[in-house]
Amino acid sequence: MGIEDAIAAFKAGRLVMIYDGDDREAEVDFVIRADAVTPTTIRWLRQNAGGLLCFVTTREVGEILGLEFLSSYYKRRGFLATAPYGDEPAFMGYVNHVKTKTGIRDVDKALTIRELAKVVQLAQRDPEEAREAFKANFYMPGHVPILGGRLGERWGHTELSLILAKAAGVPPAVVIVEVLGDHTEAMPVEEAREYSKTLGVPLVTGTEIKSLI
Ligand code: 5RP
Ligand code: CA
Ligand code: ZN
Repeated sequence: MGIEDAIAAFKAGRLVMIYDGDDREAEVDFVIRADAVTPTTIRWLRQNAGGLLCFVTTREVGEILGLEFLSSYYKRRGFLATAPYGDEPAFMGYVNHVKTKTGIRDVDKALTIRELAKVVQLAQRDPEEAREAFKANFYMPGHVPILGGRLGERWGHTELSLILAKAAGVPPAVVIVEVLGDHTEAMPVEEAREYSKTLGVPLVTGTEIKSLI
C-alpha cells in the first residue's frame, strides 16, 4: 500500500500510520481525521498504540483560538524547551470539553476531539466566533493536548499529518498517537511495517508525504 492508499484511507476516516524518518524521532504514529473519532477509536488506540493521544491543527488555528506554543511560554521562564533532535515541541495547550466528566475517559476524549474539530472548521469561516466558542466550551488544563503545526518549517508527525489531511481535502483537525506496542522503546519501524500489514492500515514515510507538497 502506498501514498495514494494512505490518502484514500485518511479521507474515508480510517487509520494511517506515519513514520517520520531515521534522522528524527524514528517513530510511527497512527493518524486519523478528528471528525471520524469515536470512543471506540480512542479505546482501540489506547490498547494498540499506547502513546500520547494528541489533537493536531495548524499553528495559525491555534493562534486564532488564543493559544501560543508552550515552548515559548517556558523559554521565557528560562526552562529548556527544545527536543534532543532539535525541534521545538508543537504543544499549544491541553483541553477538555465542558461536557466531559474527568476528561481522561475514552468517551470524554472523543467528545473533546470531535468538538475541537468543529471549532477548527468554524475558525476557517469565522475566526472571532471560533475563539469565543473555544473559550466558552473548553477548559484548560485538560487531557487532550493540542499540537500546532508549523507547516513549511518543521517536519514532525504534527506537520506530516497536516500535509496528508490537505492532500485528502480534509480540514486541519487530526488525531495522532505514537505506536509503542509491547515495548519499553518505540516500536521499531520494521515491526510497524509488519503490524500495518496485519491491520491492513497503510504506512507511509515522511519522505513520501513530503513528495505531496
Ligand atoms: C506528542 C509528540 C509526538 O512525537 C507526536 O508524534 C507529535 O510530535 P512531532 O510533531 O514532534 O512528531 O511529541 O506525543
Ligand atoms: Ca515529538
Ligand atoms: Zn512524533
